[in-house]
Amino acid sequence: MSGSLEGRVTGELRALDQQRLRRALRAPSGIDLSSNDYLGLADHPLVKQQMIVAIEQDGCGSTGSRLLRGQRDAFASIERTFAAFRHADRALYFSSGYLANLAVLTTFPGRRDLIVSDRANHASLRDGARLSKAKHVMFAHNDAGALSRILQSQTGHDEVFVVTESLFSMEGDIPPLHDYAEMCRKAGALLIVDEAHAVGIFGARGSGLVEEHGIGRDVFLTISTAGKALGVAGAFVAGPEWAIEYMIQGARPFVFSTAPPPSLAAAIGASLTIVEKEPDRRADLRAKARRLRARLADAGVAVAAGDSPIVPVILGSAERAQAVAEALQADGFDVRAIRPPTVPAGTARLRISVNVHLSDATIDRFVVVLAAALERSTQCRAVSS
Ligand SMILES: Cc1ncc(COP(=O)(O)O)c(C=O)c1O
Repeated sequence: MSGSLEGRVTGELRALDQQRLRRALRAPSGIDLSSNDYLGLADHPLVKQQMIVAIEQDGCGSTGSRLLRGQRDAFASIERTFAAFRHADRALYFSSGYLANLAVLTTFPGRRDLIVSDRANHASLRDGARLSKAKHVMFAHNDAGALSRILQSQTGHDEVFVVTESLFSMEGDIPPLHDYAEMCRKAGALLIVDEAHAVGIFGARGSGLVEEHGIGRDVFLTISTAGKALGVAGAFVAGPEWAIEYMIQGARPFVFSTAPPPSLAAAIGASLTIVEKEPDRRADLRAKARRLRARLADAGVAVAAGDSPIVPVILGSAERAQAVAEALQADGFDVRAIRPPTVPAGTARLRISVNVHLSDATIDRFVVVLAAALERSTQCRAVSS
């Protein structure tokens, strides 16, 4: 029996090789143009120091689930801080954004409910919808009209949950959140917004795009990861008191998992302080993102306008995306190819992400190197076809 499993698995691995879809674990090397450490906080002295102090005080592991011996003052404190930052009643800290999304979508939508989600939503939201007992339908990416048609046609459900990212992780674009908020208000639907890539970057306080769009009152729950711009790990679900209390009682990824190390909460506290006290950091990031997009456009590389730090360059085939990424890596730039199934077939891409450590000169040099690598890859394709 195990022989046939081995045969099937190795066959699938060979097929991944042939299609240039096999992933390799590659440690960071070269100039960072691929991490989610947009604000440079993962290595910030204050964040590191707070984590070290907390380890000295509280030890390493939390030793149990939050409902057992894993509860710590550090969690209660960071949850209060985060709820205030978000202007939400209450927040709950999870050990990852993936688990937070599973928790939200398996706790609230029930058998008689409907989940409506953007087709480009992150795998954790898709998996959460799959695991939930509710019916699930998807609408075309960022298409308010399509969402509206679904909300009008799908009747007979107790509750309807509309689920979207606020800054899409692989597209770098922003949905029409105002329209969604208004539609949900009119239809009595509950809007859930994953702010994974927006928290720390958008909004006057830096809490995200819900804040920047002024739609906080129309949103049921937000999910904000702490492992991206905040530079640490874990994620917060924020929303009404009753909803958070209910998650504590029954959200399975919260109840049946060891609490994260308490030192993470202390480190996130430092990150939030920096985000609140240093708005120039996110302004600088957005200026760098605008610069990269403008330079790419000047060089004839098609990218969408805007100032989000996620800049995808769509190349089509997995082979081409991988070849261009490898060429950039050889030139000292850590850019990764994003291939199916992470993105739809035929839309393999480079996902370039901007961070505050990049100088203007590095951005300009990178664009020259990228344009040359793209040109070479086009010539290779022309020769081989
Ligand atoms: C939109 C989105 N949601 C959730 C997650 C999961 O967050 P975490 O990495 O903390 O598990 C990610 C991570 O890539 C993401 O991009």
